[in-house]
Amino acid sequence: MSEFLVRVLAWDAAREAARPIRHRVFVEGQGVPQELEWDEYDQAGLHVLVFEAGGGAIATARLSPRGGGTCYFNRLAVLKPWRGRGVGRLLMQTLLDQSQRLAQTDLVLHAQTGAMAFYEKFGFAGEGTPFFEAGIEHLTMRRSLRPA
Ligand SMILES: CC(C)(COP(=O)(O)OP(=O)(O)OC[C@H]1O[C@@H](n2cnc3c(N)ncnc32)[C@H](O)[C@@H]1OP(=O)(O)O)[C@@H](O)C(=O)NCCC(=O)NCCS
Repeated sequence: MSEFLVRVLAWDAAREAARPIRHRVFVEGQGVPQELEWDEYDQAGLHVLVFEAGGGAIATARLSPRGGGTCYFNRLAVLKPWRGRGVGRLLMQTLLDQSQRLAQTDLVLHAQTGAMAFYEKFGFAGEGTPFFEAGIEHLTMRRSLRPA
């Protein structure tokens, strides 16, 4: 049996488990202001949640289709004690699988520059010049996905 359980949920079903993780990782952990953390894309997006087998949620991420086959990956967050155990990889694999299922072809994310090497492992490449979002340096990264 797997160590983790993955679920993909609409915001109304995901909110109760996703909010405390994002609050701890981004608002408390990285100083992201509340008004930037919670935005209109939560309601329209799909949310990945990873649960410890038999336990609570430990990680989340958001998939945000924006039309024309363009889809954003946002808000990847693994609770600190669970990092370095393949949970981030599980989030990315689930986001990629869901993108394929939804026939999304142009995948985009705003990577914190410190996390670029993580996203490169999943085929994303940086483009343009770095910019600041919530006081943190980011770079746009992109990859294409062939329709199934
Ligand atoms: C970035 C984050 C999601 C990675 O999650 P994780 O569970 O630690 O990642 P995994 O254990 O699945 O690692 C998968 C691979 O990526 C590598 N990796 C993980 N974090 C990395 C980083 N910051 N930079 C480079 N490589 C990284 C791992 O070494 C591993 O490599 P391997 O498969 O070759 O052994 C997690 O550190 C996190 O939540 N950070 C805080 C929030 C954040 O900054 N989110 C990103 C916003 S852009």
